[in-house]
Formats: sequence, structure tokens, C-alpha cells
Amino acid sequence: MSHPLRAAVVGTGFIGSVHVRSARLAGAEVVGVAASTPERSAQAAKALGVPRGYASGIEAARDKDIDVVHICTPNSLHMEVAKAALESGKHVVCEKPLATSLEDARALTDLAQRKGLVGTVPFINRYHPMTREARARVQSDETGKLYLIQGSYLQDWLMQAGDTNWRVDAGAGGRSRAFADIGSHLCDLIEWITGERFSSLIATLGTPIAQRSAAASRVAFQASGEVKETKAVDTEDVACLILRTDCGTLASLTISQVSAGRKNRLWFELDGARQSVMFDLESPEQLWIGRREGTTLLVRDPSQGSPEQKRLAWLPAGHAQGWGDCFEAFVRDSYAAMRGESHIGLPTFADGARSMSIVEAVLRSSASNQWTAIDE
Ligand SMILES: NC(=O)c1ccc[n+]([C@@H]2O[C@H](COP(=O)([O-])OP(=O)(O)OC[C@H]3O[C@@H](n4cnc5c(N)ncnc54)[C@H](O)[C@@H]3O)[C@@H](O)[C@H]2O)c1
Repeated sequence: MSHPLRAAVVGTGFIGSVHVRSARLAGAEVVGVAASTPERSAQAAKALGVPRGYASGIEAARDKDIDVVHICTPNSLHMEVAKAALESGKHVVCEKPLATSLEDARALTDLAQRKGLVGTVPFINRYHPMTREARARVQSDETGKLYLIQGSYLQDWLMQAGDTNWRVDAGAGGRSRAFADIGSHLCDLIEWITGERFSSLIATLGTPIAQRSAAASRVAFQASGEVKETKAVDTEDVACLILRTDCGTLASLTISQVSAGRKNRLWFELDGARQSVMFDLESPEQLWIGRREGTTLLVRDPSQGSPEQKRLAWLPAGHAQGWGDCFEAFVRDSYAAMRGESHIGLPTFADGARSMSIVEAVLRSSASNQWTAIDE
């Protein structure tokens, strides 16, 4: 491909604008955007400085002038837009969860493979230099055999009855909310770092806010609205899981979107026979290395650490990198794959389908109150 990649972004809310920015930084030309109506597409195109507003996501997916479609809509729309884009020969970057069922996620994975197209899913926490460092330490056996995996992903933006969003409704977001929305990131990251696969789990889901505002969906992370009328909530606010990996390691994970003060706190600790490693997304420049003697705090520094930490640490130490940098690195690696290059750890549709397999096991386990096998 000699020209810069030509991209369309479908869905122009919180993450859609992040995709537009990241696509540009990765060298693509963003040719058009699609929002929920033609009028909103035109408004978004103007606001984002993009030439074209499409009448619909499907029109964007079929545009012959496009090489790659980014899908940033509510979850229930991912399948139809991704399928249309792949069938029209486009590469796809599709937000997580890849679909709202394992069956659909597998169908998209198969379709991308049959068509020889790249499909990637922004499990972007793989792109923090310090999560790469954690992976290098586990994979090189510096930590030793893992004895215990602990993790949590906590947010507070849905902690009041006036907080609502399309994610709250199973019809738009899928049957799992908190787990599919953020637990998916945590499980993907832990499996990728450890190289161990969760094989079974027992999960309990809770919905402490059983009634929420019936008002129209509010933008993610926006302050609560006044509650006039309420409706019953059909997705979980919190999830507690115990899991076992294929190597027999036990894990305990807690997911919540109602934890006051926790904005975006993905946290994990991997306790090995020689060392532990601990990472906190709210302090992403550091990795805690626990030892019986001589515990240390490793600070991101392109002059030190594993090759992958160095590759992604594009700013000098002390010049903080964060979430936005991860997104950009993920899109850059996605585009490299579309040009036939490969980099370690690019999350693909197969990883998106794997994630849906865990989501479905969580739903089955919470319904049956039983230990449940996770489909491979
Ligand atoms: N990878 C990550 O870290 C990350 C972070 C946030 C969100 N996400 C994912 O991104 C997706 C969008 O989430 P968000 O927080 O940006 O939501 P949002 O509500 O801010 O934005 C959704 C957008 O989709 C548009 N939309 C709705 N119906 C549409 C239609 N029929 N056609 C085209 N566009 C339509 C809306 O107008 C809105 O602009 C979700 O799948 C979410 O899980 C991923």
C-alpha cells in the first residue's frame, strides 16, 4: 500500500474521538465519520475536522475509498458494522467487547481470517511500557512459578441512580455490563502477561443500584443527572470472581463501576516463587517488584528494562506517558499489521472472541452458582 491508510470512524463519542486522534498520529487520513444520525455525523465531522459525515455506519463500512474502519459504537452495533466492513474488504479495528455473544465474536474472527484481513481489538492496557515490563519478568521466569493472581478494576462513574448510559441496558451493551466493559480488559491483560489461560471460574454478580434514571443515555463519565423516573437495571454493577488457570494457579478478581473515588483503577499483583509484580493503572509509570528482601519500585525509563518496555517508552523518564500513549501505540501496531509487519502483543479478533468466552462463562456461573469451565 503506497498511500497513507484511509480510515473511517463509526461512533464519535468518548472513544471515537480518541480513535480519530490516534489514527491521525499513526499516519492515517481520517476520511469520514458516522454517528447515530446523518445530522450528527455531519456535526461530528465538522467538530473533528474530517471531510465527510456518513449517513450510517454501514455506509462507512462499504465506502470503496476506505482501507480501515474503526468501530466505536455501543456494543450491540459492533457485529453488523464489522461484518459489513470485512465483507467489503476493509481491515477493522473494533472496540471491545468485540460482540455481544461468543457466537458473533467467533463469526467475525473467522470472517477476518477467511478474507485475509486484519481485525484488532483495543485491549490497550497491553501497551503500557510497565505492563510490558511485567510480562517480560514473568516470561523470563524472574518472578518464578506463579503462586497467586490478584486483580481488580474499579470505577465510580455509575455509582449514583442518576448515572445512566447505553451500557446499563442489556439490549445495547450486552447481558454483562461491568465485567464485559472493564473486567474484559483485566482478564485479557493478565492472560497476556502470564501466558496462563483461565480455565474455570466461579462468579457472583451484584446490582446494588437496582433502579436507575429512565432518562436517555448520558455520555460516559459525565456527572449524574436529576432522577425523575426510574427503571429496573438488567446488568451488573459489580462482579466477584475466583478463577483457576490451566497451570492450576488460583486468581481472585473484583470488578466494580460503583466504587467511590476509583476513576479507572485497573490493578493487578502476580505473586511468584521469587518475586511479585504489581501494577496500578492510576500510577502507570511504575512497577512494584516485591521480594522477600529488597523490594523495589521500577520507574519507566527507556534506558532500562526489557526491549518491549523500551520500544513503547517513547518519552524520557520523568515525562509521564499514559493511557493516550497506549492507544496511539495500539493503533500504530494495528496499522503496521495491515501493512504486513508484526509486533509482539497486538490484540486481535481472536483475543476479542477469547474475552467473550470468559464473559459468557461469568454469566453462566453467576446464573448457576457453580464452578464453570471456560470454552477454549
Ligand atoms: N478500549 C477501551 O479502553 C475503551 C474505552 C471506552 C469505550 N470503549 C468501547 O467503545 C465503544 C463506545 O464507547 P463510548 O464510551 O465511546 O460510548 P459513547 O456513548 O461515548 O459513544 C458512542 C457513540 O456511538 C454513536 N452511535 C450510536 N448509535 C450509532 C449508530 N447507529 N451508528 C453510528 N454511531 C452510533 C453515538 O452517537 C456515540 O457518538 C464501546 O464498545 C465501549 O465498550 C473502549
